[in-house]
Amino acid sequence: MSCIAADFIIEQIREKPASNLGLATGSTPLGLYERLVDLNRNGKVDFSKVSTINLDEYCGLAPEHKQSYGYYMDTNLFSKVNIKKKNTHLLNGLASDIDAECKRYDHLIDSLGGIDLQILGIGFNGHIGFNEPSDEFVRNTYCVKLARKTITANSRFFNSVSQVPRFALTMGIYTIMMSRKLILLADANKQDILTKALYGSITPKVPASICSLHQNLMVICCSGKQI
Ligand code: F6R
Repeated sequence: MSCIAADFIIEQIREKPASNLGLATGSTPLGLYERLVDLNRNGKVDFSKVSTINLDEYCGLAPEHKQSYGYYMDTNLFSKVNIKKKNTHLLNGLASDIDAECKRYDHLIDSLGGIDLQILGIGFNGHIGFNEPSDEFVRNTYCVKLARKTITANSRFFNSVSQVPRFALTMGIYTIMMSRKLILLADANKQDILTKALYGSITPKVPASICSLHQNLMVICCSGKQI
């Protein structure tokens, strides 16, 4: 899964060296980032002109916090490849004015010319970024109350469930869908929700289901059986 995804990223950067990559965190893309680090070290991919835009960040965690997505990205990718720090963009989970921070992010994405290729994982409840199941799709970057299922799933990274932030900032569905290419990664334990997202109704109750309307969606999954 990671090798295939890495090949698509390499191809994207070869075609357009100054690509804007939308990035996800969590367990699923770890192998992808490892692979990109190796390929960069071996001179197979050059990040010097690439910009990155992350999907989401926990509210209340500083970038130095080990469970922040800023820290994750620095540790797993940015510090290990030849990307320019100024070209890596994340939401500020410590922003005092959340509305302004969300607007800043949307303007930033616009001013960069949009996202060329967006990497997505999928939550057990069908979330993408931190767009949790809801009655409606949310368009732009916003502050979301994390679903109980997400808090429980992500508590594996924290000492206890009580330490998991209750709120996060996330890119909205419109911004994700405006990306020119989407790559949705799912490992074997996401098989049930992936099947629901790809073959069930398109509904904000399963946010990832909207991806099937995208004209350039690539789903890469590890699966025990064919889905
Ligand atoms: C994180 C993100 C989330 C994760 C999802 C799956 O930036 O966008 O949607 O992709 O929660 O997480 P893992 O891969 O840890 O199962």
